[in-house]
Amino acid sequence: MSAAPEHIDATPGHAPGAVAIAPGVHWIGALDPTLRSFDMILRTANGTTYNAYAVRGSDGVAVIDTVKAEFAEVFFQRLESIADYAEIRVIVLNHLEPDHTGALPELMRRAPRARLIISKRAPAMLKALLKPDQDQLDYDTVGTGDEIGLGDRRLRFLHTPFLHWPDTQCTYLVEDEILFSGDVFGCHYCDARLFNDRVGDFRFSFDYYYAHIMRPFKAHVLDALKLIEPLPLRLVAPTHGPILHERPRRYVSRYRELSGAGQSFELGAAHRSLIVFYMSAYGSTARMAEAVCAGAESVPGVRVSLYDLEGGESEPFVDLIEAADALAFGSPTVNGDAVKPVWDLLSSLAVVNLKGKIGAAFGSYGWSGEAVPMIEDRMRGLKMRVPVSGLRVKLIPTTDELAESRDFGRRLAAALVGTAVDAARGTGSARSATADAAARVIDFAELGP
Ligand code: FEO
Repeated sequence: MSAAPEHIDATPGHAPGAVAIAPGVHWIGALDPTLRSFDMILRTANGTTYNAYAVRGSDGVAVIDTVKAEFAEVFFQRLESIADYAEIRVIVLNHLEPDHTGALPELMRRAPRARLIISKRAPAMLKALLKPDQDQLDYDTVGTGDEIGLGDRRLRFLHTPFLHWPDTQCTYLVEDEILFSGDVFGCHYCDARLFNDRVGDFRFSFDYYYAHIMRPFKAHVLDALKLIEPLPLRLVAPTHGPILHERPRRYVSRYRELSGAGQSFELGAAHRSLIVFYMSAYGSTARMAEAVCAGAESVPGVRVSLYDLEGGESEPFVDLIEAADALAFGSPTVNGDAVKPVWDLLSSLAVVNLKGKIGAAFGSYGWSGEAVPMIEDRMRGLKMRVPVSGLRVKLIPTTDELAESRDFGRRLAAALVGTAVDAARGTGSARSATADAAARVIDFAELGP
């Protein structure tokens, strides 16, 4: 069954109700089944949900997150079906992105006694979001292990920064073993049946969401898992997609798998990995690419891979790139630009952390040769280091220019393993190991941004 539009589960003339997910704990979110892209980067084939929750304790109600602004009315209708505004003691914001804080200003107006609870990294963002006049914004910040009591129930906080913004945290309802996880363990999948054992098969959406939202922050995911894995978990309640009440720990394990080391085990600890990608119109850049590889392979400790982008989709390459230590892109210059497959691959790299990887560019050109510096600029923009200046060859490479290409590959590989040779263009003869050993050791602090 496809996702039910919001108006279908709302009887005309009656407010949509809250959905109980545990005794005294309700889903008060919104369905958005017609959304087809989120944050401009994620496709959402059957929409998404904005999940918000209310927890009732013997000493008041906590609202955990809100919804996107255009869904505020249904959120308030659901909230009003299970609580009065005067009962709301705290509003916990696990994440301040507008898809979860759109209803916040109005909620603060309707529940003026409620205390805002945010992570220690969130105050500046909250102020930027609400633009309060001086002294008008009151909130408490919390960190890992801090608790807030609701009488017979406690909310405990886990600081989980960068999942997926710096401000993010998770909230754990101690007595009920429920984790309100924010974007973590979420996905863009809209299904009015709400619970993971009732909705359709959403495994693709879960992995896809991880790949685009969490993957760039794998190190932070692993830090968060250290906090989450020891918790008894009866239910995980994320801010998007199904509520995970049937075997919730499966999804925690899946995050552990997805945050693993990928293919790097193939390379062995003794090797650094250099991947050379290229496109070639008439074979000139292809010949340069082969020469770059040959030069790089002459440096011990470097494993070199060569790929023609004409023969591959970007997605598998992204996995390889994540595990690689260095990347070289070869592109001809066409109409003053690098060719589209190179840009497509470079633009798809926003989902991986490239900081500190080494990058390089080379290519054949007809009359202007802009492709190489443009690729270098893009790599620097991705926080890669570009220690070896790009190599350009006019039209068809000569024997000497192919020797230069080999030298370019050798210098790139030497930079990768931590030694450098002089920057003078090579003569085509491989330098001896003795000469390489005498070369200056690169101080990486001097290199690139
Ligand atoms: Fe669902 Fe990062 O907001």
